[in-house]
Amino acid sequence: AELLRSTARLPEPFTVPLPVPPEVTGDHVRITQRLTGIEILPGLRTPVFAYDGRFPGPTVVSRSGRPQVVTHDNQLPVPTVVHLHGGHTPPEHDGFPTEAAHGARDHVYPGTQRAATLWYHDHRMDFTGPQVYRGLLGLHLVRDDEEDALPLPRGDREIPLVITDRAFAEDGSFAYPSLDPALRVPGVAEDFMEGVLGDVVLVNGAPWPVLEVAAVRYRFRILNASNARRYLLALRPGAPLVQIGSDGGLLETPVTHAELPVAPGERFDVVADFSAFAPGTEVTLRNLIGDRTTSDVMRFRVTRRAAEDSAVPPVLSRIERLDPARAARTREWRFALEHHGDHRMWMVNGDRFDPDGSDADPVLGRTEVWRLVSDAHHPVHVHLSPFQVLARRGGPPSPADAGWKDTVDLRPHEYLDLAVRFTGYAGRYVLHCHNLEHEDMAMMATFTTR
Ligand code: C2O
Ligand code: CU
Repeated sequence: AELLRSTARLPEPFTVPLPVPPEVTGDHVRITQRLTGIEILPGLRTPVFAYDGRFPGPTVVSRSGRPQVVTHDNQLPVPTVVHLHGGHTPPEHDGFPTEAAHGARDHVYPGTQRAATLWYHDHRMDFTGPQVYRGLLGLHLVRDDEEDALPLPRGDREIPLVITDRAFAEDGSFAYPSLDPALRVPGVAEDFMEGVLGDVVLVNGAPWPVLEVAAVRYRFRILNASNARRYLLALRPGAPLVQIGSDGGLLETPVTHAELPVAPGERFDVVADFSAFAPGTEVTLRNLIGDRTTSDVMRFRVTRRAAEDSAVPPVLSRIERLDPARAARTREWRFALEHHGDHRMWMVNGDRFDPDGSDADPVLGRTEVWRLVSDAHHPVHVHLSPFQVLARRGGPPSPADAGWKDTVDLRPHEYLDLAVRFTGYAGRYVLHCHNLEHEDMAMMATFTTR
């Protein structure tokens, strides 16, 4: 992927306080999408495609077992369609890419899933990259009694970290190399077809922010909402990131990471313990695979000691193991750059995305084994139901593959085996690469559950 450089004046790292998006909850939530000016870089206004005037949008909170209607009212100059990423959603509410439109639309989320860190974002066919880049993304937390009963850090010690990289033009606007800035004709400049990387790391919409913390445990809901950038996160001075949850909610047991790889679309629910640090210590969240300006993500300033009332229990939940030996069938999905006429395109199994086709017809309730094959980095996302990673190159999965996943970091020249089982709703869905430039360039396939 290609780095886009900012020409705007950038702030010194660790000077802007970390904002936390406001939460909205209830059986009926209404969100308006509007073009809004937001101060992201000090002293400049960035025009943003904003959910309720915010970037990231408000954090929607719902309760497992309780249906929720989210009305999205699109007042933007472009058509949009919202997808709840990780949502167990009937097809007519899932936000199929070709359904982008103007005006209001109700999405009914039945609440038939456990507590998990989900997110919502735009999914307009051919334009997801530029429209998410301009701001159309937010978190959605599902809560439930099982998770509430655990002694995990909560209240102001439970904090979302939505990570996005961006580049800014001199006037503060987002730089994105669209062929058509009005977003009527699809396409990204040729140099950026492998993915757009920015030189500024934003957390919750703020550049390299700083957060004051007490010397206790914090729970961080990490979402990589970047178009194409992968991160390898680590705290310096060192302290582990103890993973308690994946895309699909709580793990069975915690997984300790000295370094945590996070691909676009993935979520990691982690606990960091600052109790070993004396007040006055600065702890930096680093990106070990960043370049000059993207090796720092944000900083925690330990300012005080405080009473500790949280713990990470050795057993968090129970997870049913999908049994590959009982798989109804196997399928192979090849994610690669292929020749299409005169030019090359990102494709799945050598085909470009056909919204009217159907590339697979899995039966509800039946386990299948899917093999993903790659030429490069492709964070692969499957709609409707989560999966389990069985193997990488025939060997054991990575530590970061634990639990229920809906997005998986498929690495160059690798094959990966998943156990998938769709439940609940019959209809047409998509699976695709979550590198948004690849996705917009047709690296998407359809499946129809029956
Ligand atoms: Cu996060 Cu089909 O998308
Ligand atoms: Cu890809």
